[in-house]
Amino acid sequence: MKKVLLIPGDGIGPEIMAGTKRVLVHIGGLDLAEANAGAAVLEEEGALVPEAVHAAIEGADAVLKGPITTPVGSGFRSVNVMLRKYYDLYVNQRPARSFKGLAGRYDGVDLVIFRENTEGLYLGIEKEIPGGAEAIKRITHKGSERIIRAAFEHAVKTGRKRVTCVHKANILKDTDGLFLNVFRKISAEYPALVADDLIVDNCCMQLVMRPEAFDVLVTMNLYGDILSDLAAGLIGGLGLIPGANIGDGVAIFEAVHGSAPDIAGKGVANPTALLLSAAMMLDYLEMTDEGDRLRAALDRVIEKGEDLTPDLGGAGTTERFIDAVLSEFKQVTT
Ligand code: NAI
Ligand code: MG
Repeated sequence: MKKVLLIPGDGIGPEIMAGTKRVLVHIGGLDLAEANAGAAVLEEEGALVPEAVHAAIEGADAVLKGPITTPVGSGFRSVNVMLRKYYDLYVNQRPARSFKGLAGRYDGVDLVIFRENTEGLYLGIEKEIPGGAEAIKRITHKGSERIIRAAFEHAVKTGRKRVTCVHKANILKDTDGLFLNVFRKISAEYPALVADDLIVDNCCMQLVMRPEAFDVLVTMNLYGDILSDLAAGLIGGLGLIPGANIGDGVAIFEAVHGSAPDIAGKGVANPTALLLSAAMMLDYLEMTDEGDRLRAALDRVIEKGEDLTPDLGGAGTTERFIDAVLSEFKQVTT
């Protein structure tokens, strides 16, 4: 049995994780354990990620994690970023695809963002200088190569046709220029795929104008973070986009959204993004049939539209949505 560690996290985390756990228990075949990290744990145990949680992460085949609150402007640095760096989870994969039945959203979106997850502007090296402050952006050959290769390999494996590199190499000639050069070099190894590149601001415009034209996007850390929220907006919001943080031997799956303090504790958070993250985890654990069934069940619940949470225009609750997913899951076959 595959060992899975669940980390509920802060804010809406425990609510959406409880529902997702019900679904995973129903799917079966997983040895589920739970441990917490984040702001709540810091208060009780004096550490954001206690040693025992590190040990549990290292002992698991995969981790499913809820969002963790990070104070803005001051206070501790992001636990999410720390975990990605600590375990060298260099691939951040974030798919965005249109759901049928969500009125007023873009149809035909089916793209996946590969975001470099360990360097760029997320090094967290900032310092005050006379008159202001500065931050270090670091781009390396190794960091660029492994994310770009992962994007191309994913395209080949999943039958995608186009890989687009997103950068600002016209301004950041050394850093983004390096990333773009590595992209061009690696793309030559994949002649069957269309490989092109876009400057990040133009990419934002094109994503809004014709998102259906995009397939795989590969980019640096900060651009990937911003583009994934943009992609969420195209298809119906942050409640719908899952993510995977994958390194060599450790993988942490989590939604793109944060702890949503504005709706925490109300029982109305949309669990779709965490459920889709769980489906990506099932794929990773070579339980693709179960992953496909979970995605199909979600498609049906959203298309029917009877149990949607308020962010999708419904009047449902997290629990009601989960009930509906479970009932569809029992019926779908793939
Ligand atoms: P957020 O993603 O938590 O919320 C942005 C907006 O989207 C809010 O209006 C929220 O209600 C809504 N939203 C997000 N997820 C939703 C869901 N599942 N269902 C329904 N509505 C949803 O972003 P925000 O407010 O900027 O960040 C809040 C906290 O989360 C911060 O401390 C931030 O650092 C942290 N954060 C953590 C992440 C992680 O753990 N990986 C990722 C992003 C932010
Ligand atoms: Mg983000």
